[in-house]
Amino acid sequence: MFIKGVGRSFLGQLFLTARSAIPMVRRMSKLSPKPLKGMSDISSPEVEIWQALEYSARSVLDTYTYTEVRTPILEPVAVYTHSLGDTTDIVQKQMYAFERGSEQLCLRPEGTAGVIRYVSGLGPDGGDARLYYMGPMFRSERPQAGRRRQFHQLGVEAIVEPSPFLDAEVVAMQAALFSAWGIDGVEFQLNTRGSVEDFPRVVAGIRSALETHRGDLCEDCQRRMDQNVLRVLDCKVPICKGIVDRLPKITNFMSDESLDYFRTVCEQLDSLGVTYRVNPLLVRGLDYYQHTIWEVTSSAIGAQDALSGGGRYVMDMGGKKPVEGVGFGIGMERVIMALSDERKASLTRKDKPLICLVSIGDEALQANMQLAAGLRDSGCRVSMDLSGRSMKSQMKRAGKMDAAWVAICGDSELAAGVVQLKNMAASEQSEMPATLDTLLAAIG
Ligand code: HAM
Repeated sequence: MFIKGVGRSFLGQLFLTARSAIPMVRRMSKLSPKPLKGMSDISSPEVEIWQALEYSARSVLDTYTYTEVRTPILEPVAVYTHSLGDTTDIVQKQMYAFERGSEQLCLRPEGTAGVIRYVSGLGPDGGDARLYYMGPMFRSERPQAGRRRQFHQLGVEAIVEPSPFLDAEVVAMQAALFSAWGIDGVEFQLNTRGSVEDFPRVVAGIRSALETHRGDLCEDCQRRMDQNVLRVLDCKVPICKGIVDRLPKITNFMSDESLDYFRTVCEQLDSLGVTYRVNPLLVRGLDYYQHTIWEVTSSAIGAQDALSGGGRYVMDMGGKKPVEGVGFGIGMERVIMALSDERKASLTRKDKPLICLVSIGDEALQANMQLAAGLRDSGCRVSMDLSGRSMKSQMKRAGKMDAAWVAICGDSELAAGVVQLKNMAASEQSEMPATLDTLLAAIG
């Protein structure tokens, strides 16, 4: 059963009613320990980079008084078809959508629409919300470096009275995030799509300027001419690029008010010291945008060079009135790709040293279990081998785990109530009473 309103090429994908899905899956799917293509398991040590970035993002966002919102990963398809636009790539080709009973659902392909659905439900209380979210998004794209089917965004949405000052503050906040993460060499590209009222004039102006070149455009752009003409402007095909370079700027078709709005955004960014380049061909791929739009690119990550995209938008989610906001989504996988090796290493470095307890024999193991519990209660990071392996292999394990200290307890140490404490970096070993206080004092 296919979902009406979800694009045609999407229909070729696996799409089953809930009842028929399970027997079909049993017959078809081969069990494999690998995640699905374009998706990843994220584990240590890489996950520590994620945690460090998330931690520092939360503290930057807190200084701007943004609070976290966690909306569902599964949403009604209508949340996206109403907001992103029927002709966008996401709605036409990329949504993981399915039917469950009478409901048409999909995994969220982006975060803004779900947040605006949430804010719309708040009524008048939703008029002053500064929100952020972190989590997985899903798009059925052809996987390649920097392009995943499950990827993660850190997103921000400011649903506050529209103002060019707010747009500038949100762009500046994004610059503050990149700087807190230690990412250099990014470029902020900025443009305006004008107001909703300007839009028909902009579309008509660009379409008429392109009309004489219609036959020369690539196949996709010939389709875009009728469906979503502004997307022709960011086509990467050389012949289209050559044509687009000679077109009038979209700002030529905008009102003075819209141009003033954009000028104020740029002035505020100048005064805040945010470096950016106005890119007159930037249009963004989602229909909900109006006025300020931007993308942040990095030359360090290959063809998929957009670390982030954002802009001002208006969305009707069936609340009392359409919701206006401004925000951005940062692709976290791409941010990690843009980090230098040195920066990655500094993000995974542990502040607390690791202590490994090495036990020879069952009684020593029992004594060490209690010592480990006491050390952990005092806030230490402690690991011990519980399988009774040889001292040599326990020492090897401690080395592999990069332990700063190893406390060894064998039969003779147990009988004497002592442990041998080894400082791994200095390769020095000393004997001391096996008490919590002595050990804590020794490891500082
Ligand atoms: P977007 O440009 O579609 O905008 O996505 C934002 C960022 O998500 C991209 O710049 C990229 O870093 C990352 N991204 C997108 N698709 C993939 C993928 N398949 N694999 C890896 N990373 C990807 C939005 O999603 C808007 N909701 C942003 C926004 C928020 N606008 C206003 N508020």
